[in-house]
Amino acid sequence: MTAEDLAQAALAARLNAYAPFSNFRVGAALETAGGKVYSGCNVENATYGLTVCAERVALWKAISEGERAFIRIAVASDSLKPITPCGACRQLLWEFGGDLEVILATPQGQLESRRLKDLLPEAFDRDALNKF
Ligand code: THU
Repeated sequence: MTAEDLAQAALAARLNAYAPFSNFRVGAALETAGGKVYSGCNVENATYGLTVCAERVALWKAISEGERAFIRIAVASDSLKPITPCGACRQLLWEFGGDLEVILATPQGQLESRRLKDLLPEAFDRDALNKF
């Protein structure tokens, strides 16, 4: 699986976005250590606050299928500029993915790469719970 393949999966997933309130479609594609890909799109709600991001949908799909080890996630929207995962999704990805590679893709074919530890420095995680 190349970074381009994963980006394509995220771009395709964004087409399923349920985003009637923001009209901001997002897709994500999460690659497991075993090479499987779980995709997700944002799913909004009329309450607004119950909206779920694309990254979290992909993560929950994978976790609920028994996956626990991840290496990369690609994120894409319709925006000309690459978008990064929101703070809450960074924290949730860290829980299961640690220092994942985060690929930021645009429909125009731009690809950028980040590490999750750079997007979420000094993360709070399970290690902090074992310090006493
Ligand atoms: N959104 C995502 O799905 N992922 C992100 O990384 C940023 C934001 C969604 C939430 C909401 O449906 C819409 O984009 C606008 O914030």
